[in-house]
Amino acid sequence: MVSTINDNPFSMEAIYQPYDFYNRLREYEPVYYNEELEVWMITSWEHLVWVTRHPEAFSSSVYARDVRAPNPPIDEDDMEIYNFIKKWQVSRFIQHDQRRYNPEVSGADHVDMRRVMHGYFTPKSMEMWRPLVQSAIDELLDAVEEKGRMDVMADLATPLPLLVIARMLGIPDSDRPKLRELAKDLRFLNRDGPDRMGPLSQAVKNLQDYISPLVAERVESPKDDLISVVAEGERQGIFNRDMTINNVMLLLSAGHETTINLICNGTLAFTQHPDQWADLKSDPEGKTVRATEEALRYDSPVRSIQRIAVDDIEMNGQTIRKNDRVRWFIPGANRDPKVFDRADDFDIERYPNQHVAFGSGVHHCLGATLARLEGQEIFRNLANRFDKMELEIPVEQVEYDHVLTFRAVESLPVTVTSAR
Ligand code: HEM
Repeated sequence: MVSTINDNPFSMEAIYQPYDFYNRLREYEPVYYNEELEVWMITSWEHLVWVTRHPEAFSSSVYARDVRAPNPPIDEDDMEIYNFIKKWQVSRFIQHDQRRYNPEVSGADHVDMRRVMHGYFTPKSMEMWRPLVQSAIDELLDAVEEKGRMDVMADLATPLPLLVIARMLGIPDSDRPKLRELAKDLRFLNRDGPDRMGPLSQAVKNLQDYISPLVAERVESPKDDLISVVAEGERQGIFNRDMTINNVMLLLSAGHETTINLICNGTLAFTQHPDQWADLKSDPEGKTVRATEEALRYDSPVRSIQRIAVDDIEMNGQTIRKNDRVRWFIPGANRDPKVFDRADDFDIERYPNQHVAFGSGVHHCLGATLARLEGQEIFRNLANRFDKMELEIPVEQVEYDHVLTFRAVESLPVTVTSAR
């Protein structure tokens, strides 16, 4: 198809006016082939859900199945690094298939791996963490209230999810600054282009070196923490040591990077919609659950995720070929007017709200309950504490990270007026 519209997801428009960009692409062709990037772009809710719910047709084993040479081509030194990254990626269960959908899977499959951790993340067990979340938010907001302002990113969104997931994993509090640095470097995972590979492989190695002794200790003598839960998978023969380490890393990074964006994007939405802020303030306890769902839908923390087509398949009259790369775009699906009335409005009373911010199907976010809990507590506490929240810069000046995976602000300066 010859493109007559902007189809470049890295363009300034796609980064800064994503909803215009993805709305237009969805209206033009919801199952669109981008010839330059050699990738299918899925932007409608219906097709996104189909792709995620048919793992027999669209595989998550992106690295394992990507049979083409890296594009642009890379030299031999880089190839070694590329292979290291590939090995790391395929050991994480987020990129594993179930054997019944992909007979090539050997050893433990996605279901076995996910089962190891599933019990830890049930709504009931997550409730136990609410008091910790509440007291951490109290401490952070005390400091904000005193200053009368915050950079939402630095003062609230970064420290909270990292503290919570680090506590869950059983990482000592004193290591948190170091952990923050190490985890920050993993951002290269979501960069594109060949320049990222060196820094990414270094970041992966550094974090593996940090986590490795903690894992060894838990395999020997389990404690009451999440590293021990993953280590139990090793004792049962589901993970080997590399996989245990790499899946702990997955929980660490997935457990905070995305929630940061929920907190920032949701707070930004409230500063831009005073009527919705007033509505939340009228009953923070009663309204925070739906408000958090709407924040997740309206400006979703995750932008895009990739799959690989297992065989030729027809979709919306197009033929997707075996081994084609397929990317689904959450900002397109979550503003799809076929599913959401007044899809471009921020409406915290919206119900039902069938957003796909956490994906869907077998890889649906394992940590969704935790992310929701953190979002609910943040928005409830902000509404209880502050009468006003005002963005200190024009909204057009908010800078975004240019990555495809996340919708992530660089910083978010906000002035707050205390309700007390
Ligand atoms: C998977 C989004 C928070 C752990 C996913 C997926 C999405 C997502 C879209 C699907 C990936 C796919 O289909 O390939 C989010 C968002 C979050 C969030 C928007 C916050 C607002 C968390 C937290 C944790 C977590 C707090 C852990 C503590 C995971 C894991 C997977 C996953 C382990 C892989 C599940 C699997 O492959 O079976 N997440 N996530 N996420 N998420 Fe989250």
